[in-house]
Amino acid sequence: MDLSTKYMGLKLKHPIVASSSPLSDSLEGIKILEDSGASAIVMYSLFEEQIRRDNEAFDFFLQSGTESFAESLNYFPHYDIAHKGPDQYLNLVRKAVEATDIPIIASLNGVTNEGWIDYAKQIQQAGASAIELNVYFIPTDLAMTPDVVEQDYFDILKAVKSAVSIPVAMKLSPFFSSTGNMAKRLDEQGVDALVLFNRFYQPDINLETLTIDPHTELSTPAEIRLPLLWIAVLYGQIKASLAASRGVHSATEVIKYLMVGADVVMVASILMKNGPRYLQVLLNETEKWLSARGYHSLNEVRGVMSRQKVKDPGAFERINYIKVLESFENPFASGITRNSNINIHR
Ligand SMILES: Cc1cc2nc3c(=O)[nH]c(=O)nc-3n(C[C@H](O)[C@H](O)[C@H](O)COP(=O)(O)O)c2cc1C
Repeated sequence: MDLSTKYMGLKLKHPIVASSSPLSDSLEGIKILEDSGASAIVMYSLFEEQIRRDNEAFDFFLQSGTESFAESLNYFPHYDIAHKGPDQYLNLVRKAVEATDIPIIASLNGVTNEGWIDYAKQIQQAGASAIELNVYFIPTDLAMTPDVVEQDYFDILKAVKSAVSIPVAMKLSPFFSSTGNMAKRLDEQGVDALVLFNRFYQPDINLETLTIDPHTELSTPAEIRLPLLWIAVLYGQIKASLAASRGVHSATEVIKYLMVGADVVMVASILMKNGPRYLQVLLNETEKWLSARGYHSLNEVRGVMSRQKVKDPGAFERINYIKVLESFENPFASGITRNSNINIHR
């Protein structure tokens, strides 16, 4: 079975890629991901806020003298000096590139133009095969218009593309008023891959303490629906590679994503839950499913269920929405015939 694929020009043995997560925050973790069968690794993100805190910490040390070191650590509560600073990040990229035989994709989350540009350049110098731009921005300012939000994505892409020669992927938000058009315009401006989608932190409320609860959950397989729709729509319509990122917990999701047209399928939550060795299970099960149905290569499956290829493209659109709603019956209407086993008096 030839499972090889190409992702933004990188040749991969198969389409299952380790998505950005804490599993790649040490050399040991990166080697385990490779041993477990990842065809490429997207490293956890380098956040510009951390870079800035690093610089502030540095200035603080210079101004205050070394005796205030302990104090300054208190000043930055929970600051994990061991892992998260830019020097540690770039060192880890360097070591990971030396120690592995698979592409190492660094992930960058910037704030300012200089942050995106300077660190993208240093990531390239450290030997990364590509950069994934983790554009994580929630426009809570009600005065901010959509064109301003969108322009931000174009500016970041332009700045990074002009600073590096390695491929550049962008992890997108699903929350655009015209997601397809946004993808098309990013494609026209040279993005090498789109990662669909970023999973935004959505705060909850703790009713006991009446505080905002920053706790976030791991994904569930039900979350594949939104990326599935957009990959199906974009397949064959843009040059950029398509990476599916969300809700892959078994080979079922891997195969569905490939069938709508994903070039690679990225995995994080289930590896956090079951351990990185679960990559091997995903790969074996995917291969087993495909060969049992007579497929010999990935090219035979990719895109067969995309909007371009299915007999009824309307299945992806509004017309089907109406059919879906019509297919439901009210189980509590008088003369219940369906679902009569629902015991509402329990
Ligand atoms: C614990 C955890 C940490 C993550 N850290 C990052 C990160 O640093 N940068 C990033 O772009 N995505 C990060 N992600 C998002 C994942 O890369 C992925 O896009 C998302 O979780 C959806 O995939 P999944 O359903 O397989 O988890 C993180 C996810 C988890 C669960």
